[in-house]
Amino acid sequence: MRETIVDAAEELDVPAPLLADALDYLTPRTEPLVAAQVAALEAAIGTTRTVAWPDDDERFQLLALLGTVPAARVWLAAHGVDDGIARASLGDLTPKLRDYGVAETGVDWLAKVVTCGVFSLGRLQFEPGEVVPGTATPAWNVHIPESGPLDPAACDASFAAAAPFFAAAFGDTTTRDFVCHSWLLDDQLAEYLPASSNILAFQRRFALVDTESADAPVDGATEGDRAVAKFVFRSPLAGLPALTPTTRLERAALAHLAAGRHWRERAGVLRRP
Ligand SMILES: CC(C)(COP(=O)(O)OP(=O)(O)OC[C@H]1O[C@@H](n2cnc3c(N)ncnc32)[C@H](O)[C@@H]1OP(=O)(O)O)[C@@H](O)C(=O)NCCC(=O)NCCS
Repeated sequence: MRETIVDAAEELDVPAPLLADALDYLTPRTEPLVAAQVAALEAAIGTTRTVAWPDDDERFQLLALLGTVPAARVWLAAHGVDDGIARASLGDLTPKLRDYGVAETGVDWLAKVVTCGVFSLGRLQFEPGEVVPGTATPAWNVHIPESGPLDPAACDASFAAAAPFFAAAFGDTTTRDFVCHSWLLDDQLAEYLPASSNILAFQRRFALVDTESADAPVDGATEGDRAVAKFVFRSPLAGLPALTPTTRLERAALAHLAAGRHWRERAGVLRRP
């Protein structure tokens, strides 16, 4: 078990202190618990099931996530997934663990990655098993990793790659549409960013399918406010007043909140003909 975990950590470039800390947790008492969690994650590979976590210790969770990587690789290879796509998909763990750690990223997202529930096809990630909101129409959920500018041409290539990829690997020839749930689709961003911005170009691909009130404030903040704090400032919301904005988006984010307004997570759909 230890060797498998160390190998996976090396492959995924997991920061050494994070791995060392997790390995300290691996004792004859805890090893069977980790093995049981690995088995639960392995059983969920290729499904859209969310796996329950009996222990919320981040070290336990990291060990189980890493312990699942070999089975994920085998499953991806068995479906003929190109090695580059397999590496990129599992490789989503690398920046998330480096920049945020397990708890802040959210263990359910990391579990989705190691159970092959999300695929990196170039600039964007696609998660099968979604529907167009309010319908039973299947759709791919689009995710935008934090990996440099949201170049429109790179996005074009990713969207174009999705249908051929899912058809070849999983025989899915029925899904055609994309959905996205994100602060990046908040139409209020157009008040602040130029039309030429990559974020607004990305927004223009989607038709909003929810209402502004879908992300209403709870305890004074919306999901959108928290997402902007995390993805624009890598900070909890409470830390924002102490920060000095440098980019146009940073200035907009703070000015908007200072005016007593809220950011919103919005849902959009991109229908393919
Ligand atoms: C999505 C993302 C790649 C867009 O970046 P981009 O391609 O630079 O976007 P734009 O061209 O629209 O940028 C417009 C302005 O906002 C700034 N900006 C964009 N994203 C920013 C971010 N996350 N943090 C700080 N500033 C940002 C740009 O620097 C630019 O400012 P400038 O004119 O002063 O240089 C970027 O926001 C990002 O990495 N976000 C994190 C991932 C994420 O939010 N995923 C969705 C989770 S639901």
